[in-house]
Amino acid sequence: MDNETESLPTADSENYTLGYGDGAMGWMKARTVEKHGAFMLPWLKPGLQLLDCGCGPGSLTLGFAQRMPGGRAVGVDREPSQFAEAQVYAAEHGVDNVEFLQGDVYQLPYADASFDIVFASAVLGSLARPYAVIEEMYRVLRPSGIIGLKEFDHQGDLFYPLNPVLEHSLELYMRIRAHNGHEPAGGRRLKEFLHEVGCEVLSVDASTDQRTTREELMAFVGLNNRLQSEVLEAQYLELGWCQPGEIDEHAKAWEAFARDPRAISVSAWIQAVGRKL
Ligand SMILES: C[S@@+](CC[C@H](N)C(=O)[O-])C[C@H]1O[C@@H](n2cnc3c(N)ncnc32)[C@H](O)[C@@H]1O
Repeated sequence: MDNETESLPTADSENYTLGYGDGAMGWMKARTVEKHGAFMLPWLKPGLQLLDCGCGPGSLTLGFAQRMPGGRAVGVDREPSQFAEAQVYAAEHGVDNVEFLQGDVYQLPYADASFDIVFASAVLGSLARPYAVIEEMYRVLRPSGIIGLKEFDHQGDLFYPLNPVLEHSLELYMRIRAHNGHEPAGGRRLKEFLHEVGCEVLSVDASTDQRTTREELMAFVGLNNRLQSEVLEAQYLELGWCQPGEIDEHAKAWEAFARDPRAISVSAWIQAVGRKL
């Protein structure tokens, strides 16, 4: 589909923009099936086989497994350190129907039609070839199986009140995503992807993560500032997009934003469900 070709990056060569610092991990670990994955709840049944593509810290994979007794949830991620804690949690809490595996979502290590449900959250927007991954997900799904997708769409985000420093910080983030070949507004394309791969589109919804209290804003800004200093600053410096110390100034501006009694922050997501015909 569109301009994707086979010569473009794979997991081995692709620069994953968010990296693996504690800031980004903190965000993902907090995701639960009840909230972040609620749109999947009607499809989770005992005995089903589910694949979570790009599972990260695996909080969603574990939640899926716990809702599918007698079934199995498998999390695949290119970076095994991401799901190490989830493996320990599963062992300690007797969750014996979950597995985690290092693997590349461009080349899933499964035969055709292996799963009843194939899922990806916050992955397609971090890939140069999202449609190639949808095709892989479709391949490993059994006929009449379900694909569940959730993706952020940064063009729907809202921060108020902004100032030039914060605007510059946001602009750098959008620029690095584009530089790494990733789609910052991937959410709006989920329906298109499901349609193009040949699924019956069952539902498409928008949702938001919002922070409106001082506590929520401080927590958000804390994780965001860690992501900036742990992962993004080095990329910006290498590309000559910022000066040493500049990201510290951005961090102070974000802290002031969080303390501003007028402040609100809203992140936009799209979630979609399709059925393989
Ligand atoms: C933003 S995290 C999302 C994690 C989790 N799905 C969630 O929503 O909390 C994206 C994950 O995709 C993984 N990833 C990126 N490219 C991948 C690839 N080609 N193959 C496998 N995993 C990949 C990253 O390692 C990272 O853990």
